[in-house]
Amino acid sequence: MHSSITHIIIIILIALAAGVNLSNCTNLTIVNNCHETIWPGITATNTTLTGSGFILKPGESTIFSAPNGWGGRIWGRTGCDFDKNGNGTCQTGACGTTLTCTSPGDPPASIAEFTLGDTTFYDVSLVDGFNLPLTVTPIQGKGDCKVAGCDTDLRANCPPELTFRSDGKPSACRSACNVFDSDEYCCKGMYSNPVTCMPTNYSKIFKTACPVAYSYAYDDPTSIITCSTTDFVVSFCSPRNQTEQCSYHENKLVCNGSGGLTQITYVWAVFAISFLIITQTRIIS
Ligand SMILES: *[C@@H]1O[C@H](CO)[C@@H](O)[C@H](O)[C@H]1NC(C)=O
Ligand SMILES: *[C@@H]1O[C@H](CO)[C@@H](O)[C@H](O)[C@H]1NC(C)=O
Ligand SMILES: *[C@@H]1O[C@H](CO)[C@@H](O)[C@H](O)[C@H]1NC(C)=O
Ligand SMILES: *[C@@H]1O[C@H](CO)[C@@H](O)[C@H](O)[C@H]1NC(C)=O
Ligand SMILES: *[C@@H]1O[C@H](CO)[C@@H](O)[C@H](O)[C@H]1NC(C)=O
Ligand SMILES: *[C@@H]1O[C@H](CO)[C@@H](O)[C@H](O)[C@H]1NC(C)=O
Ligand SMILES: *[C@@H]1O[C@H](CO)[C@@H](O)[C@H](O)[C@H]1NC(C)=O
Ligand SMILES: *[C@@H]1O[C@H](CO)[C@@H](O)[C@H](O)[C@H]1NC(C)=O
Repeated sequence: MHSSITHIIIIILIALAAGVNLSNCTNLTIVNNCHETIWPGITATNTTLTGSGFILKPGESTIFSAPNGWGGRIWGRTGCDFDKNGNGTCQTGACGTTLTCTSPGDPPASIAEFTLGDTTFYDVSLVDGFNLPLTVTPIQGKGDCKVAGCDTDLRANCPPELTFRSDGKPSACRSACNVFDSDEYCCKGMYSNPVTCMPTNYSKIFKTACPVAYSYAYDDPTSIITCSTTDFVVSFCSPRNQTEQCSYHENKLVCNGSGGLTQITYVWAVFAISFLIITQTRIIS
């Protein structure tokens, strides 16, 4: 009796170890450091992979384990009201009327973009506007592993003509392209290449708030960062200097900084148990 259960567990663990190489996953830890509740949305570039969406209260975090080669975007929705079926509305970033996102969010929204691989490409884009301060922090990666994103909250400094209001209150900052739809602001027509599409007085305002972010379609290539062998922290409402030094200490993610990001405990038990059982099985056979 006892040994048959052990055998079943061994078989399951061997199947897991053989079929699912967990070390291929990249952990994206999504942190809400804002004073308000947010509803992150995740969509994959490869539309055969399903999207995601969930609530994050202030101070909460969750791990999104992205499979090998995953590419996609992560953004935050604000002012949402979902019923128990996950139907509802949001003031910014809504992906239709559902909690789980299968399509990109409505502008204005700050967006973190990833293409995972041997070398991972990542950036924060404000091309569709700004709704929340957003940073992407690599954890102990190799290469050019800068912290992408924002230092300040642009909602407080948005030009009136770009201000997006919800219930009469400023809730986000629209991009000039989104408001004026001109060739110059949208980098289209005669402005549709990196030589003619220049920073504008509006994109410069976004660049000041978020120096390591895309402020317009052909923003300088330094906004895309490459870094390898790393996990990431995607943090809402943390200045870049606050997430600069995130690292794993005894399987816990620790981030230095005045804001004090919450510590996140990882569960290594499955790995430890499967390692022990597999080595035992090998010794027995
Ligand atoms: C893990 O990566 C290896 C080599 O990169 C690959 O052969 C394998 O299929 C990957 N496994 C999964 C589950 O993605
Ligand atoms: C899992 O993938 C990692 C990196 O892709 C590789 O180094 C490791 O050997 C793989 N493990 C197995 C059991 O395939
Ligand atoms: C990544 O997340 C998975 C599942 O949440 C966890 O088992 C694994 O230990 C994490 N990896 C690291 C390096 O923390
Ligand atoms: C999308 O994902 C599926 C399943 O992982 C894979 O078979 C397919 O090749 C991917 N397509 C692209 C364009 O990456
Ligand atoms: C609400 O959710 C249910 C279950 O997912 C779905 O059948 C229904 O059509 C949704 N209603 C609206 C108004 O979206
Ligand atoms: C940006 O420039 C346009 C025209 O070039 C002008 O109408 C607008 O007031 C300027 N806005 C700001 C915030 O400087
Ligand atoms: C946090 O900062 C202190 C002092 O600057 C440093 O000694 C420590 O190693 C840092 N911790 C992490 C996790 O980076
Ligand atoms: C981060 O920068 C802000 C202003 O740019 C500063 O007030 C704050 O003290 C800095 N925090 C850390 C942890 O360096």
